[in-house]
Amino acid sequence: MKDTRIRQVLARRVWDSRGRPTVEAEVTLGDGALGRAIVPAGASTGTREALELRDGGSAFGGLDVQRALAHVQGEIAAALAGCDAADQAALDRCLIALDGTPDKTRLGANATLAVSLAAAHAAAASAGLPLYRWLGSTLGGGPATLLPMPQIQIFGGGAHAGRRVDIQDFMVVCPGATSFAQALEWTAEVYRCAGLGMRRRGPLHGVADEGGWWPDFDTNEQALQALVAAIEEAGFAPGAQVAIALDVAASEFGRDGRYRLGLEGRELDADGLIELLLRWIERYPIVSIEDPLAEDDLDGFARFTRAAGRRVQVVGDDLLVSQAARVQEAAAAGAANCVLLKPNQRGTLTETLDAWRAAQAAGYAGIVSARSGETEDTSIVHLAIGWGVGQLKVGAFARGERMAKWNEALRIEQRLGAAARFAGAAAFGHSR
Ligand code: PGA
Ligand code: ZN
Repeated sequence: MKDTRIRQVLARRVWDSRGRPTVEAEVTLGDGALGRAIVPAGASTGTREALELRDGGSAFGGLDVQRALAHVQGEIAAALAGCDAADQAALDRCLIALDGTPDKTRLGANATLAVSLAAAHAAAASAGLPLYRWLGSTLGGGPATLLPMPQIQIFGGGAHAGRRVDIQDFMVVCPGATSFAQALEWTAEVYRCAGLGMRRRGPLHGVADEGGWWPDFDTNEQALQALVAAIEEAGFAPGAQVAIALDVAASEFGRDGRYRLGLEGRELDADGLIELLLRWIERYPIVSIEDPLAEDDLDGFARFTRAAGRRVQVVGDDLLVSQAARVQEAAAAGAANCVLLKPNQRGTLTETLDAWRAAQAAGYAGIVSARSGETEDTSIVHLAIGWGVGQLKVGAFARGERMAKWNEALRIEQRLGAAARFAGAAAFGHSR
């Protein structure tokens, strides 16, 4: 018998893709197996997310994480000493009880998630399995052979690009692709053609936080037109082969039922925004829309889902914050048909899985998602495959912290060989 009891928990400060401090945890087991994980950070965060504990003060703009690191090496390490890392649910229950608050406001979700995830890595290492297989054989209980449909950003906007466009993510998915590798090949061509097109029309401000091109557009709709042009220039049929996914991230520009489109100098109410999005769905090959309305507008979400939910996937990010109870509440209201899963929105692996289980019970689809502040950590790829979630959103087809994830999924696809299945268009929420 391997000794999977936790022997040591270490924390260190590392740096994310925006050059900001973040938490890395390292868990060592009795048999010497070691697991390591780094926590990412959002910019357009939902107000109901679990707390990301930052130090405040003047160093690094108040974003240092010394308090979270101290919690990992102090209280958490002491409480988990001797705990069985192979029993993730019990370990996470221990973290939740130790924190004692609904949203990890005492220890910080960055402290708890780093340890929760590092422990999973350690348990997988002890079992001699890659993390996705370990998750498939324990937590998720699935075959862990489903490769996700990638949602890949082509243009970045909103809080990730100086708010040059109001819509945050203009992304593509590849419903016509027959494998994960092929979806990446197609997206690579679309991303390249979009960049060439942007340079031609200029000016281009480089790339946004998640690696998408960051151009000057006069209207949000211009970005949609440019995206269709890039798909065509790359040689693909818009819609059938390569389609559009949006993250409106409406909480960023909407409050109390008013939505301010700064780029176009106009303000809409919820129904005005819904009408605008419905018009875009008519005109452009859009198959997925995330956060079409603000996080506090469950009613608006439900109205939009009634109007568009059979044609497009309606994704709740800020609305659902990877929380099972929020998913159940939204499902009861008929709001959204897909959950975005970001482990650091809740602070443990088990609670994130609970949100996915609640989503499946409600007939929702799911997307495992990175944050805008990322690192070389590729754990989320393993979560997507290990839990059989079917879709993965990581940002653009550029920047090392993004490519690390796409490349990790390619490795897994190759390792699985003939056993690998590609989620394809069936992954989308509206087709269920
Ligand atoms: P965030 O953005 O990581 O800045 O929250 C990602 C998203 O909104 O999906
Ligand atoms: Zn989002």
